[in-house]
Amino acid sequence: MKIFLDSADIKQIKKWLPIISGVTTNPSILEKDKGDPVEIGKLINPMPLSVEACGDFQTDAYYWVGKIPNAVIKIPLLGANKSYDNMKLIKKLSDEGIPINCTALFSLGQIILAEKVGARYVSLFAGRVDDEGGDSYRVIKDGMRYLESTDREHRAELIVGSIRTVGNVMEAFRAGADIITIPPPILEKMMNHEYSRKTVIQFEEAYGRIPKRN
Ligand code: E4P
Repeated sequence: MKIFLDSADIKQIKKWLPIISGVTTNPSILEKDKGDPVEIGKLINPMPLSVEACGDFQTDAYYWVGKIPNAVIKIPLLGANKSYDNMKLIKKLSDEGIPINCTALFSLGQIILAEKVGARYVSLFAGRVDDEGGDSYRVIKDGMRYLESTDREHRAELIVGSIRTVGNVMEAFRAGADIITIPPPILEKMMNHEYSRKTVIQFEEAYGRIPKRN
């Protein structure tokens, strides 16, 4: 299982660099963290940086691909209106060799369709699935079963996003997710444990009491 960082905060990205295999952003994250995708791309290269195409998806996708060599273009399966044309676009860009992260997925059916059109990554918004009373564990498990059954030479990888708690991370791991993209505050909670600190303090104090080496 790989960990991506769900953040555009350059300080946090530098901090977590030793454990991450990629970074994911979206327009809300870029707005909140005041992040610059080009700067982030350079910092983490050759790891993948997911940047979302917006407005005119195709024009925006080519824009980011031209600017960031390690960019993965996030394109939602559904647009903001009722058009289903993003399936065609994802297929076209994937056929051109542009890695696509098909985003804002909420169901097994959507994961299957995103994989069928050639996405390199499929992103399930687990927290939002659960917010609505859904069962993200089941969707991840079934999604992984489906992806592992495809005959594509390089199958799509499932990214579990929209992580709200450390418990969500553990559940996604147990369900067999390829990748979990985690916000920095949740990684912080994963690392900290009161008893670890107490144990280290206990050893440091004992070290202070034993005869010194020369
Ligand atoms: C990841 O790719 C998503 O953009 C992100 O995890 C969404 O999280 P949210 O539901 O907290 O906005």
